[in-house]
Amino acid sequence: MAECPVTSVPNADVSASSQVYKRLDSARVMPLEERAAAFLDLLAAEEGGPGVSAERRREVAADIAARGHYEHTEEELLWGCRFAWRHTTRCIGRYFWKQLEVRDARNAASPAEVAEHCVRHVRDSTNGGAVRSMVTVFAPRVGPRGWRIWNHQLVRYAGYRSEDGEVLGDPAEAELTAQCLRLGWSPPAARSRFDPLPLVISPPEGIPEVFEMPGDAILEVELTHPEYDWFHSLGLRWYAVPIVSNMLLEIGGIQYPAAPFNGWYMGTEIGARNLADMGRYDMLPEIAAKMGVWERREASLWRDRALVELNRAVLHSYQIAGVRIVDHHTASRLHVRFEEEECAAGRPVTGRWDWLVPPVSGAASPLWNRSYDPTEYSPNFFVQTQAWR
Ligand code: ARG
Repeated sequence: MAECPVTSVPNADVSASSQVYKRLDSARVMPLEERAAAFLDLLAAEEGGPGVSAERRREVAADIAARGHYEHTEEELLWGCRFAWRHTTRCIGRYFWKQLEVRDARNAASPAEVAEHCVRHVRDSTNGGAVRSMVTVFAPRVGPRGWRIWNHQLVRYAGYRSEDGEVLGDPAEAELTAQCLRLGWSPPAARSRFDPLPLVISPPEGIPEVFEMPGDAILEVELTHPEYDWFHSLGLRWYAVPIVSNMLLEIGGIQYPAAPFNGWYMGTEIGARNLADMGRYDMLPEIAAKMGVWERREASLWRDRALVELNRAVLHSYQIAGVRIVDHHTASRLHVRFEEEECAAGRPVTGRWDWLVPPVSGAASPLWNRSYDPTEYSPNFFVQTQAWR
């Protein structure tokens, strides 16, 4: 665990909250009533939170005893989602966890209604470029299966695999793209590297349905470079808002398998991974060639030179387009602030070093020489099996 950088004498609240955290380790096997009680304790201990009445505790216990289930109030859902973001071990952007907006869509009852909420999420979180962190929560799982959004993110580009194995577009989406085509999706007549995928939504019982995302809901940024005029001719672009839609949100023992959420981009996600990875858009050789630095010799560091310029292009383009984005140095500093605030509040700081340290200039980040406790506390967002498996 990261050393607490703030010297604070533990007070009553602090020890209360560390007692609470002992029961929130998601790896522990606990019956629903205990999970619910541990969540209510966490909520009650939250400074500035809504508190929990004794009556509410009795009601939750009674509902679980009678129906094997209970329903979160709007406030429990709001704070539960915020705690889930706070507890996520892979996110460097958690400093802003209290700003998360929550859309309660638990009453959406058809795939079409779920799709409508998803489109609204895209529009409202994009907010003309002033990106807002949001989560839209659909109905929890009560039986063996729940609602699923098959997409990894609400906006992503198709990857069309041809018979020779080559992929046009995003190779990470080749499998979902094949599923969409199988389900009857008709892609644009002229396929490109950057065709937004439709939404695929399946109800707890029944078959998946495909919904085209209205083009005007998706904000995209064309990539240009602050100095290289030729950069534009690479024809690169990316969408404005990453809205992860395939993870399971768990709050107080209740599982929400469809709960798309977003922050805003850190530049390296696009510039050092999506457009750079060899298994993704693999743009470094072309960029290095255009820069005139490509050579067979790795020791020339042509990859690194191309990486830096691609990352400059990403940050530059989002900035001039007025789309909120953060560079990895600023994001690292804000994460340190987050760690300090968590420590000061007497809460354990968790994280996964391999996810938190930025994928370029890792040792230039203040996170590099910290170590992290990877415990997954509840509430949290969890990886779940792909919906089509
Ligand atoms: N890394 C993913 C991508 O590049 C997005 C994950 C969520 N990112 C975020 N900044 N909230 O598309």
